[in-house]
Amino acid sequence: MTPKFKGRHFITLEEWTNEEIDVLLEVSKEFKRKFKNNEPTPYLNMKTAFLMFFEQSTRTRNSMESGLAQLGGHATFLDTSTMQISHGETAKDTAVILSSYGHGIACRICFWSTGNRYLREMAEHSTVPVMNLQCDLYHPMQGLADLMTIQEVTETTKRLKVSVIWAYATSHKKPISVPVTQVLLFPRYQMDVTLAYPEGYELPDWVIEKAKKNAETYGGSFKITHDIKEAFTDADIVIPKNWGSWVRNQSELVVDDLLESNRTWKCTEELMALASPNVKYMHALPADRENEVENSVIDGKHSIVYQEAENRLHTAKAVMAMTMGDK
Ligand code: CP
Repeated sequence: MTPKFKGRHFITLEEWTNEEIDVLLEVSKEFKRKFKNNEPTPYLNMKTAFLMFFEQSTRTRNSMESGLAQLGGHATFLDTSTMQISHGETAKDTAVILSSYGHGIACRICFWSTGNRYLREMAEHSTVPVMNLQCDLYHPMQGLADLMTIQEVTETTKRLKVSVIWAYATSHKKPISVPVTQVLLFPRYQMDVTLAYPEGYELPDWVIEKAKKNAETYGGSFKITHDIKEAFTDADIVIPKNWGSWVRNQSELVVDDLLESNRTWKCTEELMALASPNVKYMHALPADRENEVENSVIDGKHSIVYQEAENRLHTAKAVMAMTMGDK
């Protein structure tokens, strides 16, 4: 069956089939080629979208803003602290009004246990696609760019050992949405996914059950370890990244005893030496350099973080063109 894209909300890749994700990736690759060749891509001529941000962003905001301009449209950046939301205006009223002014609403809202619900409420009342720019549970724009990048650097994703690894960081208490998206998505592309973290940094039980189910359904595998060396050993892709201890502790405090007792969870040259000789180092960025990862690793020959970040532009354009337009 031909996938239907126009008008679809983009809140989690769990609601998109592999066939549909493959189409998004094909379009992303086409956009990347055209961008490099300076070929115009006016697929959203005169279309507009609102980009609502409850949190800071570099990659997501700019890939969406530049991306929509490159598609012939216009994106309005909305710092939600300057909107009537800060005086209590509801998700419903915001969605109804903004969707009557344009062709898409995109939003980043990472507040623990409310972010995804807020997006769902907007989606219920919006007449145009609602795109998730990261919530407390999912970061589908990042997941799509990660998958595109892995496909670019490997011949096949089948049986690839991909390790999603917790890492020490002090910059802020980060959402779990990136590792959740990765452990749900990668087994669907037949990767052998290892999730590694010290006790206390669990992902929700339903995520683990769904990751295992996705592995069974699509022919990948999924396992958990608390041994960082096991995660690095023979890995083809390593993704060491911090996330907060939200499941056990909903406090927004960044540095606590649990965090400090896990300072050794850092991506080092020594650990990278345990991995496959051609291992790739990935990170959604921003990285907490010298805490999460040694500079020599993130700046070294195994790192593909800039390619991963660059692909955010092309995948963002694919999602907008397919959901907001007729491409
Ligand atoms: N990876 C990512 O989402 O980056 P930003 O927080 O800068 O948007």
